[in-house]
Amino acid sequence: MKKLGILISGSGTNLQSIIDNINSGFIKNAEISVVISNNSEAYGLVRAEKSSIPTAVINHKDFPNREDFEEKLIEKLEEYNIDYVILAGFMRVLTKKFISHYRYKILNIHPALLPSFPGTDGQKQAFEYGVKFSGCTVHFVDEGTDTGPIIVQAVVPVLQNDNVETLKKRILAKEHIIFPYAIKLLVEDKLQISGRKVYIKDEPTENMKDLFLINPYSTS
Ligand code: GRF
Repeated sequence: MKKLGILISGSGTNLQSIIDNINSGFIKNAEISVVISNNSEAYGLVRAEKSSIPTAVINHKDFPNREDFEEKLIEKLEEYNIDYVILAGFMRVLTKKFISHYRYKILNIHPALLPSFPGTDGQKQAFEYGVKFSGCTVHFVDEGTDTGPIIVQAVVPVLQNDNVETLKKRILAKEHIIFPYAIKLLVEDKLQISGRKVYIKDEPTENMKDLFLINPYSTS
């Protein structure tokens, strides 16, 4: 059984999708050992408590610098012997020290199609740029901002009558599908990293033509 430590800062809908997918048996061999938030008001903490998952609040504001904050995070994660760190809407940048401590053991979800629109407000950046497609990305975390090897991506169209909120909602629905999927692959040891590329063992390769998308589409 692999032990997950989930870091959050906010509403925790991604956390909820992971909880639900463990409960349904889609993600096997994994349990959430602890949910840590840097924000005591995060609704994700309530979600964890409702599922009887241990929680902790480690507020970055209580520490003089990032290193001390991260030392406390590591201490807490080690207390629970965690195997993987899952960043599910955790709004703090992690330093090299933390990342090297958990090399290739940290997953993040980003609400844009990386490498486009990294950093904060990925959905707004994509919307304002005027792209016809955006989406979300699950990737391993490295020292850069949203630059680590990509595991899974999902694409959504940006529609003519969208605003940032409608686009966010469409992307979030896909986040709730691909994050549990990437975690399932991770804990089942199906991911193989080679440089920047992540190969998925047993990935189906047939019917690729169904995966091509055009937006706006033509009916002719
Ligand atoms: C998601 O959009 C995620 O991609 C981003 O932060 C948001 C977290 O949402 N990193 P939630 O707290 O999981 O609802």
